[in-house]
Amino acid sequence: MSTHILGISAFYHDSAACLVKDGKILAAAQEERFTRKKHDYRFPKNAIDYCLSEAGITASQLDHVAFYDKPLLKFDRLLETYLSYAPSGFRSFLKAMPLWLRQKLHHPREIDKGLEKQYKGRYIFLGHHESHAASAFFPSPFEEAAILTLDGVGEWATSSMGVGRGNRMELTHELRFPHSVGLLYSAFTYFTGFRVNSGEYKLMGLAPYGDPIYTDLIIDKLMDLKEDGSFRLDMSYFNYCQGLTMTSPKMDGLFGGAPRVAETPITQREMDIAASIQKVTEEIVMRTARHLAKTTGMKNLVMAGGVALNCVSNGKVLRDGCFENVWIQPAAGDAGGALGAAMFVWHHLLDNERKLPEGEQDFQQGSYLGPKFSNDEIKKYLEKVGAKYHYYETEEELLDVVSGHINNEKVVGNFHGRMEFGPRALGGRSIIGDARSIEMQSVMNLKIKFRESFRPFAPCVLREHAHKYFQVRENEDAPYMLTVAPVLDEHRTEESMEGKTGLDRLKVNRSSIPAVTHVDYSARVQTIDEQRHGRYYRLIKAFYEKSGSPIIINTSFNIRGEPIVGKPEDAYKCFLATNMDVLVLENCVLVKDEQPTIDKNEVEKYLSQFDLD
Ligand SMILES: [Fe+2]
Repeated sequence: MSTHILGISAFYHDSAACLVKDGKILAAAQEERFTRKKHDYRFPKNAIDYCLSEAGITASQLDHVAFYDKPLLKFDRLLETYLSYAPSGFRSFLKAMPLWLRQKLHHPREIDKGLEKQYKGRYIFLGHHESHAASAFFPSPFEEAAILTLDGVGEWATSSMGVGRGNRMELTHELRFPHSVGLLYSAFTYFTGFRVNSGEYKLMGLAPYGDPIYTDLIIDKLMDLKEDGSFRLDMSYFNYCQGLTMTSPKMDGLFGGAPRVAETPITQREMDIAASIQKVTEEIVMRTARHLAKTTGMKNLVMAGGVALNCVSNGKVLRDGCFENVWIQPAAGDAGGALGAAMFVWHHLLDNERKLPEGEQDFQQGSYLGPKFSNDEIKKYLEKVGAKYHYYETEEELLDVVSGHINNEKVVGNFHGRMEFGPRALGGRSIIGDARSIEMQSVMNLKIKFRESFRPFAPCVLREHAHKYFQVRENEDAPYMLTVAPVLDEHRTEESMEGKTGLDRLKVNRSSIPAVTHVDYSARVQTIDEQRHGRYYRLIKAFYEKSGSPIIINTSFNIRGEPIVGKPEDAYKCFLATNMDVLVLENCVLVKDEQPTIDKNEVEKYLSQFDLD
């Protein structure tokens, strides 16, 4: 008899479901990909239905259902925080209350409803950071590892530390609300005019344009940072305990005025703040990692929690050498809690053996854990909408055509295989192009994604060639695009950054692969190997054989504010609405110029449905 465990995360942001069958992750997906509402926090009904269909079961056949946090403890934090700031937090308290009373305090009832009352067992509620920690350790390739989780906040914990061994894990230390590296970063995300819980990437991307002139000020004034990476924040500068904003007016005095208003021009101040808070974050993470290495004596580190998506600080930890190996859960944010909760039940609670299957490099399966679609389904859809497409019977023929398009500097939407679990597109739902192209970064940002011009793109590189371009070890594995590495000197161009400030730095031709080289010569590398990436590996190889370059540019298949495409239909609509040249849907290839006239109204309708993120 098989054991099926469903993990759920929901009701905050990035709801998700994961199904583990006898220890194998059978399916995992975020609700937003189905509902087309970014960061959808509602009960993940669609994601659960998908997971059940992948296993061929109904909810009545589930053996265990685990939830990624403890709602009552969260409520306890809310009340206690309110009481300690009362009466000043009354407005935010009032704003939060209705949803708590209606839904969040009644998780078993809400989950029962979501599962249509078919599941008869009890629900297992794990600690928020327990779920993050489990998502970091259990899918990792390591027999034993130190565990570090960092995020905004769970119930009370904002960071936790511990050790995983075999099929068990133990968390030994934690940092508690309101002292939080995630909330500190989010406070500056807010202050620089980006949206909290989604604009953190933008702040990270903006950092290399600035100078970290506020670093000491942040460390001296806003916090008391200890050698072991723990800290206390001076809460008089923040407002997130009692108010509806992240920072208090006292913060404005330190940084020369009020927070930037969203969508207004970004000035040098925001760039310098971005650079400074990035440096402070790296300092906190580095101190914590070094302390953890020293106290646990472990060679391996695993990480999860939203802050573990900061690939710049991850890169620093990796290259610092305090740990020999680092593995980070690709769905490091709260969506990944669903996966962690299910894995925790199988290993830690049910005491089942944890053994890497033959030929696998970790338990995460490249994070290709979502839905896939057959050629027949795709052809049927394309015929229904009257799209013109070429169907290639063999992979060889297909890859020859698609790599040719990339070599001709075409922007290609690549939809193939299972959808990725986690915020990064890893080749399954990606927009790709030639990384050597000088125009590519701005074309992709402005004409394809309709987003800010400063945002960097990531390279996908054949793993065996990565060390020839980036400062990584030979055959270093970075399949989940979670660490940055510097571009090697020999690939940097002569043209200097000197005298260039702010966004002007973007105009400097930085390297032989400018489309994926950030202004500080860093790149968020994804290494591609044949075992994990199959056809995607062979596509880049075909491009390499034509062009001599083993690197392509990769970005998620979506426009600004849109969740990454889930179905062929989403991909086709996105293709029509943007300046993308070519769309690959499994073995079908669509060329933009060959498409029948595109209905402008339809395009407008499509574009207007996504809020700016
Ligand atoms: Fe979290």
